Amino acid sequence: MSNSLRTVRGTKDLLFAEAKKFDEIVEIARKVFSCYGYDSSYFPMFEFEEVFKRSLGDFSDVVSKEMYAFEDRGGEKLVLRPEFTAGIVRAIFSNSLTHELPLKLFTHGPLFRYERPQKGRQRQFNQLNIECFGIKSAKIDAEILFMAKQFLAELNLLEKTTLTINSLGCSDSRKRFQTSLSEYFSKYKNDLSEDSKIRLDKNPLRILDSKDETDQKICLTAPKLADFYTESSKLFWDELQEYLAIFNIDYKINPTLVRGLDYYCHTTFEFVTTELGAQGTVIGGGRYDGLANLMGGIDIPAIGFAAGIERLLLMYELTKESAPTFIMVPIGNKEVEIYTLQLAARLRANNIKIIEDYDMNSSKKMKRANKINAKYAIIIGEQEIKDNNITIKDLEDGNQTIIKESEIHQLLKKMS
Ligand code: HAM
Repeated sequence: MSNSLRTVRGTKDLLFAEAKKFDEIVEIARKVFSCYGYDSSYFPMFEFEEVFKRSLGDFSDVVSKEMYAFEDRGGEKLVLRPEFTAGIVRAIFSNSLTHELPLKLFTHGPLFRYERPQKGRQRQFNQLNIECFGIKSAKIDAEILFMAKQFLAELNLLEKTTLTINSLGCSDSRKRFQTSLSEYFSKYKNDLSEDSKIRLDKNPLRILDSKDETDQKICLTAPKLADFYTESSKLFWDELQEYLAIFNIDYKINPTLVRGLDYYCHTTFEFVTTELGAQGTVIGGGRYDGLANLMGGIDIPAIGFAAGIERLLLMYELTKESAPTFIMVPIGNKEVEIYTLQLAARLRANNIKIIEDYDMNSSKKMKRANKINAKYAIIIGEQEIKDNNITIKDLEDGNQTIIKESEIHQLLKKMS
């Protein structure tokens, strides 16, 4: 098939029920997150390369292998956003919002990563993303996890996921840990996977995340991050666990949860499921107190998470019944047609879903009604207009009811 008729690898058209599920998931997220003060904002889909390069980590997979980077016609080096967080930090400074802290923001939309497509992994995908800036207390970490749980519960997916958390400690804790890890892994340099050999020089922490079996065996006896926490990091981690208990949040500690982006400190977490094969992380996030400073601004404590909509879509079942569809079937002359057009306009103005497909005769329209799952046909003929009547046919049981034109709004509203 010619390229003009194909989708690009890793992209998908979302149609019909899938699109409806997508909308429902976004609507549920907006409702839940707004109860905690996270209201919608929208950000550009492309940014200067500098926004993402250092902030996500020069040697992270996202920056080194997956960014859609390009030069525009004016010679600017730009990137299609691979994630929201760094772009939102940029927005805090571009919009001089540092005096408005704390700030809580919700956004959603498409992101782009040149990954190997598979179930739950696309090159263009969508996230629901929240960020909180300006709060240091571990209470917000616990509150955000509680909010994520409430969101999954409203999607009926909480039972299918497990919350795993870890603490990376502050940058001092991590530096000391990193030095010790380098020494340890250097002893096994020849046995490590090719990817991990590179990580050893650039960011040995990421070896802990390796999916390679030999790497994983070597990791079993590697130094433990918890042994390198500074006093304040230990305190923060203890506090978080205290608040998680207060919020009654179940979780598992995963001491090797380092996440794929370099900006995290202290709290990292993921909601994972066994239902999606290899791409089992449906929500990922954590604290990133050092990012604003790293990007050239002032220090701002921050925490957030993102949920992959495509992964949620694979598990989510539609819950809400959609409003019934009514199909217009005029039978007769020009006068009937005009009357039907005007009636349809009046009904739609009352938020009733009316479909008319015009280019077909009445029997074709009735067939079409079945195809689009219309619930009722509104039949109008010359006699009906004369008598001020309308016939409504229930397309499930075939029963017809004749009502007065003046009653139609009330009746259809009741049926909707
Ligand atoms: P992330 O772990 O890279 O974190 O992505 C978050 C979620 O987005 C993943 O758990 C997954 O559900 C979904 N996701 C990621 N890549 C793909 C893909 N190629 N196809 C489909 N879904 C995908 C971040 O992006 C951080 N910015 C999250 C964050 C916000 N941390 C703090 N604030």
